[in-house]
Amino acid sequence: MSTRNKPQDPGDEPDVAPPQPSRRRFLQSAAAAATIGAAPHLRAQTPTPAAPPPAETHTPVPSRPVTLTVNGRAYTLQLEPRVTLLDALREYAGLMGTKKGCDRGQCGACTVIADGRRINSCLTLAVMHEGENITTVEGLASNDVLSPLQRAFIEHDAFQCGYCTSGQLCSATALLNEFRNGTASAVTADVRSRPPQLSDDEIRERMSGNICRCGAYANIVAAVRAVHEGGGQNSAGAGSNGGQHDANA
Ligand code: FES
Ligand code: FES
Repeated sequence: MSTRNKPQDPGDEPDVAPPQPSRRRFLQSAAAAATIGAAPHLRAQTPTPAAPPPAETHTPVPSRPVTLTVNGRAYTLQLEPRVTLLDALREYAGLMGTKKGCDRGQCGACTVIADGRRINSCLTLAVMHEGENITTVEGLASNDVLSPLQRAFIEHDAFQCGYCTSGQLCSATALLNEFRNGTASAVTADVRSRPPQLSDDEIRERMSGNICRCGAYANIVAAVRAVHEGGGQNSAGAGSNGGQHDANA
């Protein structure tokens, strides 16, 4: 027999069901318990702040006098050992004709001639060139008379903005002397014998370290060829470095 409809005895305790937690209270309790349980784990995952890095100590490297012979004149400059030849020329000697393009050996704008070798002056330290004869674009003309290459660059319209031109001129000056000395290049057919002629391919290859953003390449080649065919002499680059820039000089 079901107790559902059983009449209540007055002496009995009232039939009270135990209170049921509401759904909301249950969820609140569960969330609180989860938070408390996870707290130690969260604390464990919190990264401990890194110790501050040790303070950098820069020991100053003292500058010292460096004598550079540039365009026949001695410049005694007070230089730190880290100063590049390019910065020494421009910032210390005041010879601004040599240009800084990329400052990492890729454009050739900083080309100068050191003891006959054309080099990227941004890639070499000034202190390494004491005692060498350095020629910059300012030293190509003599007594205000332009060199044959300088004249040819004007006649053949071999520049536009001119930013690369000082490097092109120094490079081409050394190139002509290298060829005259019998130096082979990467496109010389037989490197064991003297290149028979300074072809346009030879000029392009030997000038390939000098970038011209204005794209005056055809006219630069024409100017170099004209000086070569005309027998123009260039006194500055009387040595040889194997045909290309010596980036590590
Ligand atoms: S500045 Fe570009 S090669 Fe030196
Ligand atoms: S003339 Fe402008 S970069 Fe060569």
